[in-house]
Amino acid sequence: MKAQIAVLEGDGIGPEVVAEGLRCLHGIGSAFGHEFAATPFAFGGAAIDATGDPLPADTLKGCLEADAVLLGAIGGPKWSAPDAKVRPEQGLLRLRKELGVYANLRPVKLHPCLVGASTLKPEVLASVDLVFVRELTGGIYFGEKRRDANVAVDVCTYSVAEVERITRVAARLARQRRRKLTSIDKSNVLETSRLWREVTSRVMKSEFADVALDHVLVDAAAMHLIRRPSDFDVLVTENMFGDILTDEASMLAGSLGLLPSASLGDAKRGLYEPIHGSAPDIAGRGIANPVGTILSLALLLRHSLELVKEADALEAAVGRALESGARTPDIAAKGEKTVSTRAMGDAVLAELKRG
Ligand code: IPM
Ligand code: MG
Repeated sequence: MKAQIAVLEGDGIGPEVVAEGLRCLHGIGSAFGHEFAATPFAFGGAAIDATGDPLPADTLKGCLEADAVLLGAIGGPKWSAPDAKVRPEQGLLRLRKELGVYANLRPVKLHPCLVGASTLKPEVLASVDLVFVRELTGGIYFGEKRRDANVAVDVCTYSVAEVERITRVAARLARQRRRKLTSIDKSNVLETSRLWREVTSRVMKSEFADVALDHVLVDAAAMHLIRRPSDFDVLVTENMFGDILTDEASMLAGSLGLLPSASLGDAKRGLYEPIHGSAPDIAGRGIANPVGTILSLALLLRHSLELVKEADALEAAVGRALESGARTPDIAAKGEKTVSTRAMGDAVLAELKRG
């Protein structure tokens, strides 16, 4: 197959982790006889510096024309002054909206050999395997914003249609897994959450009676996630709760640097990015963990290109690289030998070749 991938390296460690991801993608290409054309576009803080806009028109065009989009990370102190007029994050929110990728899948699976990398006890982590489905193009991140000297306002809005479609994505996913869906809201306080609970209940009852649904309030969910994480299968929630809970959940896998994500809509084209940020504190040092990006490419192969064997092969290669002992500093135990970003990419590539 031939596929066009738009590549947005972004800022901070973005370029470093994307470079390793692309080497692995091309490794899959040669092993399975595919041609992946990766075209870079300016995005985020780097694009603000070059053009004044975090999402320049030709970047958006390139993304809309591609079969899939790979993103590294964006942001950094340079563009975060409290009075900044344009921010890299605005580009990312606009890109998600323009691509129509309303469902953000964030799988969290503990690799057994990394159990020591987590701050949680091994017995709590045994058999963690869950997926967050975060609503990505609605809610408070997209509502009207206002500010005067004394008051600031961020509006949170959800429509029935927005909740219906994200519920369906999560329920279909649960059907392929353990048929358990947990919907997270704050319906004891928020009107949007009461709508969320009503709609998820109705859709599940009428269309997915074979999937068990339970509702958990977001504050309790934050606690249960680290108390009994193995009980969860698929979790569906609104934009901001999903943003917060998925950073928390990354600790179940050992490091934020390990977690991939796929943002999907009704088209096949998706946006794929590790869930970590641009980590300006370690940028340029060659120590960032590229695994979140490499695993995001596995999701890209599976969801946008329907290359399931290839996705499985890449995930298996990452697993074996970790088992062979390759550890970037974020997942190394005290005193354990660490490898660079590049060497972690090399370890995955070597395992890919070994097949
Ligand atoms: C994420 C990030 C983004 C978000 C930021 C960078 C806008 O935290 O993808 O989780 O809040 O969605
Ligand atoms: Mg986040």
